[in-house]
Amino acid sequence: MTADRAAHSYRDTLKHDAAADYPEQLKACHLRCAKRTLHTLETNGSIFIKLGQHLSSMNYLLPNEWCDTFIPLQDKCPVSSYESIEAMVLRDTGRHLTDFFSEFEQLPIGAASLAQVHRATIRETGQKVAVKVQHPALDEWAKLDLALTSFSFATLKRWFPEYDLTWLSEEMEHSLPQELDFEREGENATRARDYFSHIRDAPVTIPQVLWAKRRIIVMEYVSGHRPDDLAYLDAQGIDRDEVSAALARVFNEMIFGRNAPLHCDPHGGNIAIRHNPSRSGKKNFDVILYDHGLYRDIPLAIRRSYAKLWLAVLDADEPKMRQYAYEVAGVGDDHFALFASAITGRDYTVLTKKQGGAAGVTSSRTKEEKKVIGDALGEGLLESLIELLGKMPRVILLVLKTNDLTRSLDEGLQTRQGPLRAFLILARYASRTVYEEALDNIPGSILWPMNFIHWFAAWTRHMRIELKLGSYETYLKVRATLGLRMVDVGDSFRE
Ligand SMILES: Nc1ncnc2c1ncn2[C@@H]1O[C@H](COP(=O)(O)OP(=O)(O)O)[C@@H](O)[C@H]1O
Ligand SMILES: [Mg+2]
Repeated sequence: MTADRAAHSYRDTLKHDAAADYPEQLKACHLRCAKRTLHTLETNGSIFIKLGQHLSSMNYLLPNEWCDTFIPLQDKCPVSSYESIEAMVLRDTGRHLTDFFSEFEQLPIGAASLAQVHRATIRETGQKVAVKVQHPALDEWAKLDLALTSFSFATLKRWFPEYDLTWLSEEMEHSLPQELDFEREGENATRARDYFSHIRDAPVTIPQVLWAKRRIIVMEYVSGHRPDDLAYLDAQGIDRDEVSAALARVFNEMIFGRNAPLHCDPHGGNIAIRHNPSRSGKKNFDVILYDHGLYRDIPLAIRRSYAKLWLAVLDADEPKMRQYAYEVAGVGDDHFALFASAITGRDYTVLTKKQGGAAGVTSSRTKEEKKVIGDALGEGLLESLIELLGKMPRVILLVLKTNDLTRSLDEGLQTRQGPLRAFLILARYASRTVYEEALDNIPGSILWPMNFIHWFAAWTRHMRIELKLGSYETYLKVRATLGLRMVDVGDSFRE
């Protein structure tokens, strides 16, 4: 019923949009409703905590008051007792934990809303492993919790059709059974591991899966430190800018790579950095990826339109941005500005400006801009936002989430080079994707004169972007070597 109360609260507040203190009223309303919702989610447990985590990670779209209020849910997770885990293993496998493991640490090294992870040693081989077990109580509650979520959103929709969030419960109904099946998680992990074993410039390590059942998964133990553990990075002589660049490569590879698997829960807790002196030069570390419960495949056509959308954004070419926003997500003119902001994390008016030859998106965010975005969300855009979210293909939401993660990891790393380098890396992947499409469209051998012309045109376009990016990168390296901080990247272009 929190949903009903929240909607009432919004309805009252939105009536006063002409009032002088409307922005403050709206902020207070956001905060009030978010706190109420937080309380409801906390009292209801596992699946609701998961829902709250979804919401808190949507800071590319939701007002700050909502995301900030839900942050505590990220590490507020139930811990299941050792006894309950022991009983579950016996029930599911017919054997005792001690039959499999000579050591099993009773306290988990990590616990999240759906599972917890224990360190253990395999009895037969002596290998150190990480054992991920589902919270035993989930089996009983998952179905009921899901039904309740759908019911709440359906009720909300009946009373306030403009706040239609039923897609969120539909999304959970679709994804939760997948996340609760660890055999599937094992397959995803193995697939991603195979994929990245061929990718040289993305230093990904995925722990090998040794054994998986529906509620228990046993993996090779591979540990590291959170990517925002700057003290660790500094102590090991790991260059933050390189970490940021590596993360950008990993996630862009997942978005743009041919047949690449997309990890759909890419937050700081599912990534670790490990010092690896055997890798050459400045790239002296591995990026470890955990938690492979939810994977998606981006359809090829969407992937290609998305690449073109980004190239248009980087060119500040508005008509093309509109065209590809439509192709990627079915976004028409009415929602375009909002969508452009969601994709880039920038105010849309900045995107369409060219600054000294560089696209607006590569400049640093100003305080004013953040305010414009915040205010815009107040001006009746909330309904618009909910409508947009409901219409977009789900996979695009996940791409947005991945974008947002790379951005926030990047801010957490406090790199010398600012956001520009991540954009350059993204642009490289986008350009490669567009080039690959052109190659696929050439019928037969490129030795045919017409085909050769098509190929040459595509190659020149690709190389032109490569060259432009290459020279920016060199420029950035020179600046970094000279020890200059990139405080305002936009300025650097105007110099
Ligand atoms: N194979 C592993 N080796 C070492 N630590 C691991 C391994 N798998 C998971 N962990 C640790 O346990 C934490 C939780 O694991 P994760 O797979 O993300 O489960 P959850 O679904 O509970 O979030 C991770 O953040 C990581 O610190
Ligand atoms: Mg996790």
